[in-house]
Amino acid sequence: MRKLIAGNWKMNGLASSLAEIEVLKGLTGKVTCDIVVCPPFTLVEKAAECAAGSAITVGAQDCHAQTMGAYTGDVSAEMLAEIGARFVILGHSERRAAYGEMDGVVAGKAAAVHKARLASIICVGETLTERNEGRAAEVVCAQLEGSIPDTATSSNTMIAYEPVWAIGTGQVPSLAQIEEIHSSIRQMLKERLGDDGGRVRILYGGSVKAQNAKAIFSVSNVDGALVGGASLKASEFAGIILAAD
Ligand code: PGA
Repeated sequence: MRKLIAGNWKMNGLASSLAEIEVLKGLTGKVTCDIVVCPPFTLVEKAAECAAGSAITVGAQDCHAQTMGAYTGDVSAEMLAEIGARFVILGHSERRAAYGEMDGVVAGKAAAVHKARLASIICVGETLTERNEGRAAEVVCAQLEGSIPDTATSSNTMIAYEPVWAIGTGQVPSLAQIEEIHSSIRQMLKERLGDDGGRVRILYGGSVKAQNAKAIFSVSNVDGALVGGASLKASEFAGIILAAD
């Protein structure tokens, strides 16, 4: 399967950060994987303009489930599509924790993303306590079951397995632990979507760096990565992209 490497800039980046995309454009024609950059809302349009004609596509980090209305501070999938976004990250653990986003809310947002003809990157992952209780696979599959809408297909949906304890900590699960969860996710996707579930890309996220990327990409059912901190500097992000190729 063609790998997908997505960078999640989180709440980082001013216009000057678009220089990082300029550097990444140099990879066009040199790599075969899909590259997605997800800057904050304020930079989505400029990033899409900057990336036009290159191998890079642009995504956002959240959206509302409704198309329009009295939702102060929110942004809809249609609005993101209009300014050039092609992907939306949904259900990131930082949003689940800070805003109490439940699986049903994530599924509603994903359905809105699909309706706007964008692709969703749906995030799931266990906490350290859940892992220590031996419930990682169970928690992840339950989150997934509730977060995937009926509109999901392998072309409009990617899953990101991001253990909460691995995000921004420098701690990474063992390759065997990654393999176990990715294989449970694959099984669940096949039960839910039939053969098409075998084609959904499952990304790993949580402290991916240029240095550990190659080993992570060698694990079966790892079809790419969702990268936070290491996506902010093009030189480091490029190292991860090259490791996927
Ligand atoms: P990290 O973040 O790569 O900085 O650990 C990953 C994410 O939150 O998507």
